[in-house]
Amino acid sequence: MSDLADLFNTLSTLLLRHQSDWRPLPFACTSLPWPELAPVLASLDDASLDRLEQDEAAVHALLAPWRPEVVAALDWRLPELRRAANYATPRWSSGIPGRKWAQICDFGANVDANHPILEWCAGKGHLGRLLALRSGRPVTSLEWNPDLCRQGEQLADSLGLDHRFVCADALAADAAALFTANQQALALHACGELHLRLLRHAAAAGTRAIALSPCCYHLIDGNDYRPLSAAGRRQDPGLGRHELRLPLQQQVTGGARIARLRHIEQGWRLAFDVLQRSLRGQDRYLPLPAFPKQLLSGDFTAFARWACERKGLRLPEPFDPAPWLARAEGRRQLVRRIELVRHLYRYPLELWLLLDRALFLEEQGYWVRLGTFTACANTPRRYLIQASLD
Ligand SMILES: C[S@@+](CC[C@H](N)C(=O)[O-])C[C@H]1O[C@@H](n2cnc3c(N)ncnc32)[C@H](O)[C@@H]1O
Repeated sequence: MSDLADLFNTLSTLLLRHQSDWRPLPFACTSLPWPELAPVLASLDDASLDRLEQDEAAVHALLAPWRPEVVAALDWRLPELRRAANYATPRWSSGIPGRKWAQICDFGANVDANHPILEWCAGKGHLGRLLALRSGRPVTSLEWNPDLCRQGEQLADSLGLDHRFVCADALAADAAALFTANQQALALHACGELHLRLLRHAAAAGTRAIALSPCCYHLIDGNDYRPLSAAGRRQDPGLGRHELRLPLQQQVTGGARIARLRHIEQGWRLAFDVLQRSLRGQDRYLPLPAFPKQLLSGDFTAFARWACERKGLRLPEPFDPAPWLARAEGRRQLVRRIELVRHLYRYPLELWLLLDRALFLEEQGYWVRLGTFTACANTPRRYLIQASLD
């Protein structure tokens, strides 16, 4: 059994053993799901919660006595792969934000470019362009946005590169025909179903080398994740979109305005939850869909009217928002505490998903390596799966 398979088995057991920690839907909970944690979580005041939400190490220290094996698993770090020798910016890279450029350079440093390249979900094809320039190998970039393809083509032409764009849907059946054996298939930050397709198509075509950094694990066909590897199917923890989103829930960044909007949204969603339970006379959560963010610049009454319309409920007239907002505040405190615990599992769940992809490739005869390709300051989605048949 490979080292990756060993780690996968241990991780699968850990996740199943602790599923009652990461499965609860915080918004649906009206009490703390883990009574034994009540003393430690209840004693936290607002300032401590604010601080803990910005300091993962402090959360780990706080919860280590109650979840020692989970906190120990957070030390299972993946190796650091190659980094670019420098991040020099050629003229054509102007307009690419610094952190994106660093990701592209670091990803490129991990590609030996010994074969023609297929760049999957390429955007403007910056990575493909960098590799075409560096290696002289032909590059095909698949992207479905015609504007991005046009801009990428113009840049390739201006540099005289053998770099062409295929403007097509990666999820269409005929995209499989882009994969050949004598090829290297790459994807920098391809979302869930898109990178799953890449792996299946590349394995079916016997593509010589693959390099993939996955993102947005929850953007899959259907609601339930079907493990890619046979090992994953044997130890399937049963992940839905809700669980697949967990690895993407980073610390809140983005400045005061974004934090304020997030605070309002969370409060209003919870206030609506309290309201709908009362209107329907049923103590059950009713999920609300995503909504246009301009709703947040109005007031809770307008939000509640919109939400009631979506759910076929009638908002009482006249409507006094104050009691619902007040009751939501208590729920918000609960959600914050539940999230502290759930967030312990962001990394173990992401590692499980990465290993499922890696083991699928091993099962198809690939030599596989898993590691980080760039610094976390550049992106939290910094894992790279490298595979080769050579
Ligand atoms: C997260 S971006 C990554 C772009 C580029 N690889 C990078 O890292 O800068 C994902 C890209 O996939 C493209 N995309 C999304 N769905 C697609 C589909 N079904 N077929 C082809 N491209 C798609 C988007 O237009 C977008 O350019």
